[in-house]
Amino acid sequence: GKGRYNHYMLKEINEQPEALRQTLNGRVDLENERVELEEFPEGAFEGVDEVHFVACGTSYHAAVYARQLFHDRGIPAQAFFASEYATINPPLGENTLTVAVTQSGETADTLSALRRAAGKGGRTLAVTNVVGSTAAREADDALFIRAGPEIGVAATKTFSSQVVSLAMLAERMAEDRGAEPRADAARYLQALSDLPDAIEQVLGDTSAERVASAYADSLSHFFIGRGTGHAVALEGALKFKEITYEHAEAFAAGELKHGPLALVTSETPVFAVLSGDYDEKTYGNMEEVKSRGAPVIALTDAPESVSRVTDDVITMPETHEDLKSLLANVQLQLLSYHAASLRGRAIDKPRNLAKSVTVE
Ligand code: F6R
Repeated sequence: GKGRYNHYMLKEINEQPEALRQTLNGRVDLENERVELEEFPEGAFEGVDEVHFVACGTSYHAAVYARQLFHDRGIPAQAFFASEYATINPPLGENTLTVAVTQSGETADTLSALRRAAGKGGRTLAVTNVVGSTAAREADDALFIRAGPEIGVAATKTFSSQVVSLAMLAERMAEDRGAEPRADAARYLQALSDLPDAIEQVLGDTSAERVASAYADSLSHFFIGRGTGHAVALEGALKFKEITYEHAEAFAAGELKHGPLALVTSETPVFAVLSGDYDEKTYGNMEEVKSRGAPVIALTDAPESVSRVTDDVITMPETHEDLKSLLANVQLQLLSYHAASLRGRAIDKPRNLAKSVTVE
């Protein structure tokens, strides 16, 4: 049941520390500074020269986040909407690994992309929450994210567990491909292990709830970011639309000035996810919207450095740069939850949506 929570969504947001402990359990070896995935013996990814992520919705955003982590480890990776995979028709080498990222393991678009890759002779991997799901059974291999059952239609804890699972996959794959160990391996792996505690701190913070009510009368909510911050901006906007029924949109911070800036007014608060990737450039984008009268809300671990360009700040604890946006995402989950709750929406079962989309 929902226990002391009014909604499964809030329960599942709050379950993230425990879900991540399960995701990480036995997989991060701090002593030897490496990741160990029980499913994959040493050398399992030796031949892989490229990764194609195929996914939908929130899982696609986890793939966009992960793409950057794979690139940082020298692994060419692309993220595709599963429903676009056939149309875009990217060339598939015999050493391309197609990775279906799917919480349920039953999403029709994702299964279809997976089957397409397999049909072309490609190797496949399912990253999923559901043991025994169609994706897990059909793919050559499966990596289980171990987040526990998710009841709320809006995906929350499974996004965090997907990103962390893919982060670990990147490390394992880099090792098999003979990449140099990360210069910051000890600090990164420690930060991964400490992530459940960092999220616990975020969950104890009430700024997202305050901000949700401060901007409740807005015409639209915009979300911007760079790199992993862009992935999380996309996820923040999706969650916001899904459960508040209000318009929300995400932009790569640098793209604002190429068009969307025309929409920015005092009625469109802009949430900036500061991921540590070229933040100075994002400050410039925040100034652009502020000078058009839009309220600017920063998600950051360094509130003092952005006070000049913000009206409000949502602060996160410090962590490794690669994981910062994951903490910001938890704040955006809370923002959407409270914004939807203020509006009295059917948070666990938003209109027109189903937990698992089994038609193409
Ligand atoms: C959003 C949401 C959907 C799913 C998407 C993919 O909150 O839940 O966007 O993420 O339908 O579902 P899975 O991950 O089961 O393939």
